[in-house]
Amino acid sequence: MSKNAVVIGASSGVGFALTQALLERSLAVGACSRHLEPLQILQERFSEERCVLRRMDVMELDEASHTLEALIRQLGDVHLIILNAGVGHLNSHLNWKLEEEIIRTNARMAAWTCRFPIGDLSSAFSAFDQRHKSGELRGTEIKAG
Ligand SMILES: NC(=O)c1ccc[n+]([C@@H]2O[C@H](COP(=O)([O-])OP(=O)(O)OC[C@H]3O[C@@H](n4cnc5c(N)ncnc54)[C@H](OP(=O)(O)O)[C@@H]3O)[C@@H](O)[C@H]2O)c1
Repeated sequence: MSKNAVVIGASSGVGFALTQALLERSLAVGACSRHLEPLQILQERFSEERCVLRRMDVMELDEASHTLEALIRQLGDVHLIILNAGVGHLNSHLNWKLEEEIIRTNARMAAWTCRFPIGDLSSAFSAFDQRHKSGELRGTEIKAG
């Protein structure tokens, strides 16, 4: 059976590399981030069916949850969700605006992560979780950062 994954924060760095590595291992990948242009090279290489692109801003969690839920339904069984979206700045002068952006984005991702194990039925993770309970898939979640 073919396997499917979702990478959130897929447009650069670790997320882009993981998306490419999963595609090279024959998974279908739902790749999400605010910028999709960098991912088009992967879509051209692996096809629109295997590399499904979705614009997502994790600062808009309700909308992001709906997008994720729809993506999970489109892909079918999802075996791996990588929560990688985040920002990081070198901030040796402790500029508060930079620090605040890091806290707001990265803490938001961590909080979203917490919805999954406790099974918040209103969140997109419930779609993933319900399948998990029915034994149709196994889920793994990674938060880098
Ligand atoms: N590299 C390091 O040394 C280091 C150290 C500690 C932790 N981390 C964490 O590890 C992860 C990957 O690091 P990296 O170096 O690969 O970072 P990166 O190249 O900056 O990639 C971050 C990814 O997160 C996405 N992202 C950022 N804000 C987003 C938002 N509001 N909504 C949706 N997606 C968003 C970006 O896509 P868009 O901009 O297109 O949305 C991008 O795809 C990040 O979470 C980072 O905070 C990295």
